[in-house]
Amino acid sequence: MKFFVDTAEVDQIKELNDLGMVDGVTTNPSLILKSGRDILEVTREIAELVDGPVSAEVVALDADAMIEEGRKLAQIAGNIAVKVPLTWAGLKACKVLSDEGNMVNVTLCFSANQALLAAKAGATFISPFIGRLDDINLDGMELISDIRQIYDNYGYETQILAASIRTVNHAYQAALIGADVMTAPPAVIKKMADHPLTDAGLDQFMEDWAKTGQKIV
Ligand code: G3P
Repeated sequence: MKFFVDTAEVDQIKELNDLGMVDGVTTNPSLILKSGRDILEVTREIAELVDGPVSAEVVALDADAMIEEGRKLAQIAGNIAVKVPLTWAGLKACKVLSDEGNMVNVTLCFSANQALLAAKAGATFISPFIGRLDDINLDGMELISDIRQIYDNYGYETQILAASIRTVNHAYQAALIGADVMTAPPAVIKKMADHPLTDAGLDQFMEDWAKTGQKIV
């Protein structure tokens, strides 16, 4: 499973990237706001740091303006994936931008039918939002599973990018189902290393080691 980091905070991306945990980065207008950075500048910095796809989102609502913004974002670097919303205009922009050879990430996906349309429009990635479905008492993971089945039924190559991952359980379930990619905040990725039995075991080893009076170096 590929790990994308869902943030525009360069320091946090760098820390995980140095550990080999970063296969790509996703941003959105809310994350750009949170970073306090200029979108073009921060996207360029991230794209230089990371080898994999870096998603940068358009903010126009009509297809022609989305295409214009998408072309500008794509010029930042060769590893930019233009992110467009899953609206009819976004699908039009997806088709044009992907036909031009750009990676396109279709975002704000909340149904399997939407995901099917994105695949037909040539999306490189489809981003179903798990957490936001859970927020309204729907099953985000069921959506990932449905899209997996539909894409596999017909051999679509669009990659399922499980997004709006809020918990380590979301990450685990998405991996079990076979999402191609997950994008998660740095804190969730780091939390995947935690287990209380690891902590308890380490405490015991440290206690026993101290009693040996030995040193390794
Ligand atoms: O990648 C999409 C993601 O940023 C949305 O996450 O937690 O705002 O629903 P969230």
